[in-house]
Parts: sequence; C-alpha cells; structure tokens
Amino acid sequence: MIDLQLADKTHDEGRQGEALVTDAPLKRNGRKLYIESYGCQMNFADSEIVASILFDQGFETTGDYKEADVVFINTCSIRENAEQRVRNRLSQFGAEKRRNPKLIVGVLGCMAERLKSKFLDEEKLVDVVVGPDAYRELPQLLAEVESGHKAINVLLSREETYADISPVRLNGNGITAFISIMRGCDNMCSFCVVPFTRGRERSRDPHSILAEAQGLFDMGYKEVTLLGQNVDSYKWKGADLVTEQTAAVALTEDKREIEVNFAQLLEKVALISPDLRIRFSTSHPKDITDEVLYTIAKYDNICNYIHLPVQSGSSRILDLMNRTYTREWYMNRIDAIRRIIPGCAISSDIIAGFCSETEEEHQETLSMMDYVGYDFAFTFSYSERPGTLAARKLPDDIPEEVKKRRLAEILVKQQNSSLYRLQQFVGKTMRILVEGTSKKSDLDYCGRNDQNAMVVFPATAGIAPGQYVNVYIDRCTSATLLGVVAVEEPANV
Ligand code: SAH
Ligand code: SF4
Ligand code: F3S
Repeated sequence: MIDLQLADKTHDEGRQGEALVTDAPLKRNGRKLYIESYGCQMNFADSEIVASILFDQGFETTGDYKEADVVFINTCSIRENAEQRVRNRLSQFGAEKRRNPKLIVGVLGCMAERLKSKFLDEEKLVDVVVGPDAYRELPQLLAEVESGHKAINVLLSREETYADISPVRLNGNGITAFISIMRGCDNMCSFCVVPFTRGRERSRDPHSILAEAQGLFDMGYKEVTLLGQNVDSYKWKGADLVTEQTAAVALTEDKREIEVNFAQLLEKVALISPDLRIRFSTSHPKDITDEVLYTIAKYDNICNYIHLPVQSGSSRILDLMNRTYTREWYMNRIDAIRRIIPGCAISSDIIAGFCSETEEEHQETLSMMDYVGYDFAFTFSYSERPGTLAARKLPDDIPEEVKKRRLAEILVKQQNSSLYRLQQFVGKTMRILVEGTSKKSDLDYCGRNDQNAMVVFPATAGIAPGQYVNVYIDRCTSATLLGVVAVEEPANV
C-alpha cells in the first residue's frame, strides 16, 4: 500500500505530449483530495488519472486523510485478503467520517466494480462507488453526493483508455514512470476476477502512448514501464497521425490505416532515445512471440527482464485454470527467451493449491521452478473469487493447511533461486539507473540493473539520481546487489 500525494508542481511538470495545450493557471478551490491505492501497477496508474481529473476540478491533494474533503480508496479484488485489507481501511475512514460528517468517502477500482451497489448497502459510510472505466464521471458523481445523494457509476466500456488524460505523477521520483497501453482482459483464466472488474480488452492509441513517453523523456524521466494485463496481445488499428514513418509500423494497403502490435510498439518507444529504458508487464506465455523477443534483443534500452507468470507447472491444472498453454509450451517459451536474449531475467506468478491440485502436480510446479530458475516470483495461495469460472465449476477443495505448506515450499525454492540469480551478478560491472538514495541510508544510492535487480552502492560525488552509472557488484544479500561505482565499462551479463 502506498499513500499517494500530489504536489501542484508535479502536476505542472506532468502535463505533456498532446495534453500540453492547457489553459490559464487552474484555480484551486481549497478542497483537498486524499487517494490511496491497492493492487496492481495498473491501479496505481489509474489513481494518477483520477488525480488529474480532480486536479482539473480545482482539488489539491494531501497525504493526510484527516485533513481531506474527499477520500478515495482505489481497490483490488484479486484475492480475498486484498478485499479484507480495504474493508479494514474503510472502517478507519468511517471513524474519521463520524468526526467530520462532511467528509466524502469514495470507493474506486476493482472492488467497486465487483460489488457495485452492494457496496453502498454493506458499507454505510461510503458515499460514492466508481468503476475503473467511469472516472471521467467523477466530477458529476461528486456533485451528486454534495447534493445529498449517494452516487454510483460502474459502467464498463469497450473503448475507454483515458488516452487524452495526462496522468499526474503521484509520489514519483521523476525518473521512472508507468504508462498504461491497454485496459481490460479477454482471457478468462478460471481463477481470475480481472475480466469481470476491468471489462473487455482494448488497446490505447499508439500516438498517445508515444507522446506520453516522449513527454516524460523531455521532462527528464529515464525509464517507462508499459502496462497491461496481457501486453503481448496489444493490437491497435487506426488512422496514422504520425507523418514520419518508421520501419516498425506496417502500413495497410490503402496507406491510411496503420496496425501496430506489441513488438512494433516496443520498438517505437525504444526509438525515442537510447537513454530511455523500457520495461513492460505483464507478458502472457500463450501470446509472447519471437518477434517481441527479437525486438528486446535488438534494442539495448529495452530491458532484459520478462515477467512471464506460469501459475502452475502441471498441464492438467493449467487446463483447469484455462491458461491455454501446457507445461511443454511454457518451457518452449523459456527456451526461446534463453536462446534469443541470453542473460534475460525472468519472473513469475505462482498459485499454490488450485482446485483439485494433487501432490504430484504441486511437485511439477516445483520442478518447473527448477527448470526456469526464476529471478523473482510472486507466490499466492489460491483464493476463490465469487463469479469466476472456477468458483462456479470447481470445488475449492485443497485444505488451507495444505495450501499453506505448498506455498511455503514454493517460497523456499524461490528464495534459493533468487539468491542464486543475484550471485551470478557478483564480480561483474553493470549499468545502473540511479533512482535515489537507498531506503536504509542517505549515504547510499539505489537503482536497478537491466535485469531489474536492485543495486545499492555508496553515493559518489558527481553522480545524481536520474543518471546512468557503472557499478561493480562485490556482494549480495538475498534481495539486493551491493557494489561500488566503477570506471570500467560493463561486460555483457
Ligand atoms: N494478467 C496477469 C496477472 C494479473 S493478476 C497474468 O495473466 O499473469 C496477478 C496474479 O495474481 C496472477 O498472475 C495470479 O498469480 C494471481 N491471482 C489471480 N487470481 C488469483 C486467485 N483467485 N487466487 C490466488 N492468486 C490469484
Ligand atoms: Fe486474470 Fe488471466 Fe487476464 Fe491475467 S490473463 S488478468 S490472470 S484473466
Ligand atoms: Fe487487483 Fe484489479 Fe489489478 S483486481 S490486481 S487492482 S486489475
């Protein structure tokens, strides 16, 4: 959980690209917004859209909900405990509301979408419920609340991408930023609530993505992460507004429409500048193409790091999960990554104890982890979500303690694997993008290498956040590389 705070300065700097054409200075109306986000990076990116919409209404933001006029909580439904955390937080906001009855409390995001008006019945303190595709309506919805009514809009859209809204970079470091390139998901993995909370998949106009990335780079940002639930199925077709063509764009026959896939989008963003690093998340094993892998290999500034969630190592479980690939398919994709991008870091999401998972099938997940040797993994115990295919068709029949034990085994294996992967960097020199001072000491800087590993090293005169610097790695802990600024050029790792 991160508290998001908006400074006017950040917002002014945050206006870029096509949305730069603005108006006279905005009048503040003295009202304060507090916004708190849970869940995935896309939800955090959405909070930046929400902040932008309310900023245009004259709101200032605050990092202290006790002094806010409006409190928004941007919620996640992915697992039951994610929802529980939100409810606990809401009860704290409720206490504040009893003290200050004028306080407006709004629930945004995936829980709003999943529970809809039930939220207003269940949580009496909530005034407004807004789904992820309805943020443009926020000003009207707030006006409704002010006129004494509860307000709700949870309509999902097939088109909304907020392409024209310039996000306010909340609590940012001015160096790394997220860019949403698509919304929704059409995959229907049987365990997953996202298709229900985020609606149909749609890709954002590449011109607006490029304008946003260029704008960030012009303001001094050095890294962008392209976000989508399944970036490999990015596909956009439409009128070509860019006069200057690059080889990355395939013209259709009548030369007025362009079609852009994810590999081509990656290439276009990479061409902005060799000094702008590109990351992306999430890749889906069924969709990641060799074309994407070759594009990553071709450009030094597209980071050698792929988040490729496996979920399970068993083909039978993958089938029940409706992931539409097998163990062998996934291994083949890993082989392709190792062949085309040697040294590429790979991370994963893994679910322990999905419906009917046997001990042997759990062992297959562990052996898959051995096969890949993940650099990092997010690991979860299966949590049944109402309304999903699994909840309707498959009994959640693995006892809690078995799920826990399997998860613990997965965790231990991953800790060993992460340490092993980090140890492979020791003794090497690598290029780091300095992000700021380290959490533990102002005397140290931190930043990530190409493979997304965190590196901490003593702050050295003449080096500042936002710069690339060569660091010699002399040791590591289980999660961090430690080193010193080096003069020699990095070797390929
Ligand atoms: N779009 C991404 C993942 C989005 S959700 C993808 O397809 O990989 C992030 C992760 O949460 C998933 O990869 C999955 O591992 C986990 N997750 C989703 N639903 C879950 C559930 N019901 N129980 C436990 N983990 C779940
Ligand atoms: Fe959920 Fe599957 Fe879509 Fe990922 S790809 S968001 S796991 S339905
Ligand atoms: Fe959670 Fe919604 Fe993201 S359910 S993981 S916030 S898409």
